[in-house]
Amino acid sequence: MAYQRVVLLLFLTTYCDSANILYAIPFTSKSHYIMLRPIGLELARRGHNVTVITANRETNPPPNYREIMVDDKEIWDVMGGERPNIFTMVNLSAEEFHEKIFWYAGTAFTELTLNSTAVKAFLNEENTFDLVICEQFFQEALYALAHKYRAPLALVTTYGNCMRHNFVTGNPLQVATAISEFLDLDDPTSFWGRFRNSYFTLYEYVWWKYWYLGKQEALVKKYIPGLPQPTPSLFDIQRNNSLMLINSHFSYDTPVAYLPNIVEIGGIHLTKTENSLPKDLQRLLDDSKQGVIYINFGSNVRSAELPIEKRDAFLKVFGKLNQTILWKWEDKTLHGQLRNLVTKPWLPQREILAHPNIKVFISHGGLIGTQEAIYNGVPIIGIPIYADQFNNLLLVQQIGFGRVLRYQDINENALESVLNDVLTNKSYASKAKEMSKRFNDRPMNPLDTAVYWLEYVIRNKGAEFIKNPARNMSWYEYTLFDVYISVAIVVLVSVMITNMLIRKLANLPEFSISIRKHKKVQ
Ligand SMILES: *[C@@H]1O[C@H](CO)[C@@H](O)[C@H](O)[C@H]1NC(C)=O
Repeated sequence: MAYQRVVLLLFLTTYCDSANILYAIPFTSKSHYIMLRPIGLELARRGHNVTVITANRETNPPPNYREIMVDDKEIWDVMGGERPNIFTMVNLSAEEFHEKIFWYAGTAFTELTLNSTAVKAFLNEENTFDLVICEQFFQEALYALAHKYRAPLALVTTYGNCMRHNFVTGNPLQVATAISEFLDLDDPTSFWGRFRNSYFTLYEYVWWKYWYLGKQEALVKKYIPGLPQPTPSLFDIQRNNSLMLINSHFSYDTPVAYLPNIVEIGGIHLTKTENSLPKDLQRLLDDSKQGVIYINFGSNVRSAELPIEKRDAFLKVFGKLNQTILWKWEDKTLHGQLRNLVTKPWLPQREILAHPNIKVFISHGGLIGTQEAIYNGVPIIGIPIYADQFNNLLLVQQIGFGRVLRYQDINENALESVLNDVLTNKSYASKAKEMSKRFNDRPMNPLDTAVYWLEYVIRNKGAEFIKNPARNMSWYEYTLFDVYISVAIVVLVSVMITNMLIRKLANLPEFSISIRKHKKVQ
C-alpha cells in the first residue's frame, strides 16, 4: 500500500506540474460551499498545493490542502443584527435586496475575512502562488491578493450569467435576453421586462462600480498593506482576470454568447458522489411505494418559520394524499401531526433527490437544489423567496418540468391544485427526465472542465491571449459610438455641402440658361 502511494505521488509530481494555488472562498453560506468545495479538493487530488481561505472546515482534508480559517461568525452576527425570518424577504425588490442585504453583508463579511486572525497571519507569510482563484460574490477586496502574489486571477461564481461577469471580462451584456438574476419578471422579454432589466442593470452597475467597489478598496488599504506599487484599482484587477467559471449550463439556462474564458460549469457539485442515504431514510424511501413528496426550502430559509396559516394549508393538503411527505422542518412541532409526514431538521438533499420514488420536489428554487433536481430528473414546485430563486423557477416553468407558486398565493386551494397538476399530469415528470439527459450530455463533466481550464491558465501563465481586447477600450470605442458619430458627421456635412452647392448653382444665370437650353434640345 505504502509503496503504491509513493509510486502514485511520484507519478503525480512528475506528470502534472504541481502548482501553488490560492483559493479564496470565505463566504460561510452552506449552499455556496457545496458548489465551491469540489474545485479545491479536486485540485489537491491532482497533486497541486492548495491553500484555501474558508469558513467551512473539511473533516478529512488531504495533506496538500491547507485551510486558512475565517473567524467563525454567522452572517447575521457580522451584520450586527438578529437573524431575520427569511420569509419576510419575499417582499424586497431587487434594489432593496442589494441595499439591505448584499452590499451591507458583503462589506461586513469581507472585513471579517481580512481581519481574521489566521488570515492576517497568512498574509504576513512569504508565499508565492501560480494562480489565485476567488469566489465572485461581493468580496472584491480579495482580488487584490492576485496582485499581491503577482499571480493570474480566476473567478468562480455560484451564480449563472450576470452583469458583473460580463463587465469584467468584456463580454457583451445581452440585456434583451439575459435577465439579471435578481429580478422577478413574469415575462422577461416583453417591453416591460426588457425595460426593467435595462434599468436594473444600469442601477446595479453605477452603484457597484462607483460606490461599492470604493468600500472594497478601503478594505484593501486597511488590511492588505505593502502591495506592489503601482496598485491597480479593483476594477482593473478584475478586468485582468484570466478565467471566469460560472454556475450555469445552456441546457436549462438562457443560451448567450460567451468569450472563450467564460466557462459554464453548472452541476459541478454533482460530478462525484461520496455519500449514500442514511439507513432510516433509505428504508423510508424504499417503502414509500406511492411515491414521496420532498419539501425543503434550503439551508438559509427555515420552514418552521412559516406563518401558521400557510403551514396549515400545507398540512391540510398533505393530509389528503397517499404519498409520503418528507419535509426539512427544524423543530418538533409537526411530530405526529400526520400519518404520512416525516420531518427532520436536516436532510441529505442530493441523495434524496436521486431516489426513484421521489415524485416532486417542493423548493424555494435555490440554484444548487434546482440543479440537483434537474440532474436527477425530478419535477419541481417552486416557491421563490429571494435573490435568483424566481428566475431559476421561471426557467423550470417555461421548460415545463415544474410550476411556480408565489409565496403570497399559498393557501389550501392553490397548493392542492398545483400539487395535483404536477403529480397527475405526466408531462412534468417526462420533461424532467428529458432535462436530466440534456443536462448531463456534455463532452466533459463540469468538474474536469473547471480543472482543465484552471490548469490551462496556470500552464499558459495567465493566458493573456484569451482575454478580450475590448476590456481595455473605453465605452465609446467598445460601442463604436465614435465611429457612428464620425459617420453621422460625414453624412451631415455632405448633405449640407450638396444642399449649398445646389442652391448656389441654381442662382447662377449661366447655369439656369444652360439647363433651359438643355431642356429645349430634348
Ligand atoms: C504550499 O503552500 C503554502 C502556502 O499556504 C506554502 O507555505 C508551502 O511552501 C507550499 N508548499 C509547497 C511544497 O510548495
